[in-house]
Amino acid sequence: MAELVIEQLTKSFDGAEVLKELSLQIQEEEFVAVLGPSGSGKSTLFHLIGGLYEPDTGAIRLSGENINGQKGSVSYMPQSPSLLPWRTVLDNVLLGAEIAGRKDQQAAVQMMEKAGLSGYEQSYPYQLSGGMKQRAAFIRSLLSPQPLILLDEPFSALDEFTRSEMQKWLLDIWHQNKRSILFVTHNIEEAVFLADRILVLSEKPANVIAEFQVDFPRPREASITLTEEFLRFKRDIYKVLKKHE
Ligand SMILES: Nc1ncnc2c1ncn2[C@@H]1O[C@H](COP(=O)(O)OP(=O)(O)O)[C@@H](O)[C@H]1O
Ligand SMILES: [Mg+2]
Repeated sequence: MAELVIEQLTKSFDGAEVLKELSLQIQEEEFVAVLGPSGSGKSTLFHLIGGLYEPDTGAIRLSGENINGQKGSVSYMPQSPSLLPWRTVLDNVLLGAEIAGRKDQQAAVQMMEKAGLSGYEQSYPYQLSGGMKQRAAFIRSLLSPQPLILLDEPFSALDEFTRSEMQKWLLDIWHQNKRSILFVTHNIEEAVFLADRILVLSEKPANVIAEFQVDFPRPREASITLTEEFLRFKRDIYKVLKKHE
């Protein structure tokens, strides 16, 4: 059974449709990237899966269970890091695990070190740069125990080098502890490098206009981005996006 099944999801705001009969599925342990122009409804889709919004029509099921409007079923990293200002960075990073009753301080400290946040454990969010906040929110979602992780443009605030480090690290972590990942990005190269499968969304009202299976063997090295096959993916996806502008 697929981990996540979304059927015919429709969502409007003030009469304007943002998602229209959008359907998709994610298998257990699958890494799926959602690629679409900005304003197409990607974050709205995540708000719906995360239970922050309710759909007008359609179904969202996780391992067979209806999760429409239900918070806490998935681990969710929103597009804006939304750290709690009154908690230290370490306590922010531990929030999801703590709510689930699985707080592991040592794992959190190790992850912060990996993400270049060592020494900031007892700092407060206002003391961090935008990119550091994003990395903290990213770790928080990884430390939450749910079997499906939603990542909404998790690396958009990072410079090219840090972004590439974080991508490799994410793949390592996912390799060691396989879960389903739904990853929103507007970066074609990032989608091809990370995902098993890429869903391309149309402009709003969004629905899935193309799907690409990406079968590069894992573990993946950054050098695959220079191969002919990788460039072909980039061209093909770019064409689909262009055509629907
Ligand atoms: N709470 C809301 N109220 C009204 N309009 C919204 C709301 N959330 C999103 N929208 C609209 O939905 C569209 C898609 O937004 P969003 O899902 O954030 O796109 P993306 O993440 O793909 O950039 C935008 O036109 C945005 O203005
Ligand atoms: Mg968005």
